[in-house]
Amino acid sequence: MTAVAPSPATAVDRLIHESWGFVADRALQTAAELGIPDLVAQGPTPLAELATATDTRPDALLRQLRPLVAVGALGLDDEGRYLPTETSHLLESDHPDTLRPWFRLMYRVTFRMFDDPMVSLRTGRPAFEERFGNTYFGHLAAHPEDNEVFHAAMASFTRRTARAVATAYDFTDAGTLTDVGGGLGTLVAEVLARTPGATATVFDLPRLAEPARAALAEAGLGDRTDVRSGDFFTAVPGADTLLLSWILHDWDDEQSLRILHNCRAAQDDGQGRLLIVEAVLPERPGDDLATSLDLVMLFGLGGRERTGAEYAGLLDAAGYRHVRTLPLASAPGMHVIEARTR
Ligand SMILES: C[S@@+](CC[C@H](N)C(=O)[O-])C[C@H]1O[C@@H](n2cnc3c(N)ncnc32)[C@H](O)[C@@H]1O
Repeated sequence: MTAVAPSPATAVDRLIHESWGFVADRALQTAAELGIPDLVAQGPTPLAELATATDTRPDALLRQLRPLVAVGALGLDDEGRYLPTETSHLLESDHPDTLRPWFRLMYRVTFRMFDDPMVSLRTGRPAFEERFGNTYFGHLAAHPEDNEVFHAAMASFTRRTARAVATAYDFTDAGTLTDVGGGLGTLVAEVLARTPGATATVFDLPRLAEPARAALAEAGLGDRTDVRSGDFFTAVPGADTLLLSWILHDWDDEQSLRILHNCRAAQDDGQGRLLIVEAVLPERPGDDLATSLDLVMLFGLGGRERTGAEYAGLLDAAGYRHVRTLPLASAPGMHVIEARTR
């Protein structure tokens, strides 16, 4: 997000301005964590009211809110009351396209993985594990609140991607679907909403079963979906079409191949379809989603973003034929990589 300061004129001004960019980024994450956008949603709200509701000191909170007003993430009227803006609406808990959980995950976990890049740069291992004393998914298993925020964050980010997938890809002949590592069922919900009569299975770790069932029931899809639990490193439930959305980038090549081999073993020769939904790295560095996510994967999980050619290589090694890589115009940076069982 744009940092706080008047537009810098020279290269040195711009660089100094850039060096403080994290202050506004962190302020936005903190506001999401505190629920400030929910509090101002109804209209002008005095500082004292915000401080009481968030259990913060008014003098300190004033300073935390200032960068948000400076970048237009919050409004401020002449009486010193805070107002909602287009940005703050998108961080309200009840907004249909809310990104609040995504920013809360940034606040609680993602930002902290970037504390010590040297750990990852010198060892190749996730800095997360040094900072949190556990693997990423091990940490989530041990910390229910972070786990809940993580899965809500995935759902909040994936909602837009899922709509783009369901719009850009024709599922009419896709047959039965299983979303492997499907989380709360966000992708399946968008696909089923646009594919009358289709049914799907959401497969994920056992701790996701109950919240996934609840989310799918709330979407009115309880009778068209099945939720199954297990470990995709052991086996996955078969289907005509398997979906892997934001799964392979969490893992290194060896682990990704294990998942892909298990997918391949669950599908028939010749008929099966596999759709990988991921950001795809451009051949030359660019200002794109995959370039940023790649470092999140390095520092957080030991996974990696990949180029189209690297995905095609993994698919080939697992016994799939790469068919095409489809960029998703309405979810910039995200792609559907389609493969068939030969
Ligand atoms: C980055 S999230 C992606 C979630 C969802 N597919 C999406 O696109 O938003 C990775 C998912 O993999 C699941 N997962 C991690 N390890 C797993 C395992 N060993 N077996 C099955 N699911 C696993 C997590 O619980 C999580 O839902």
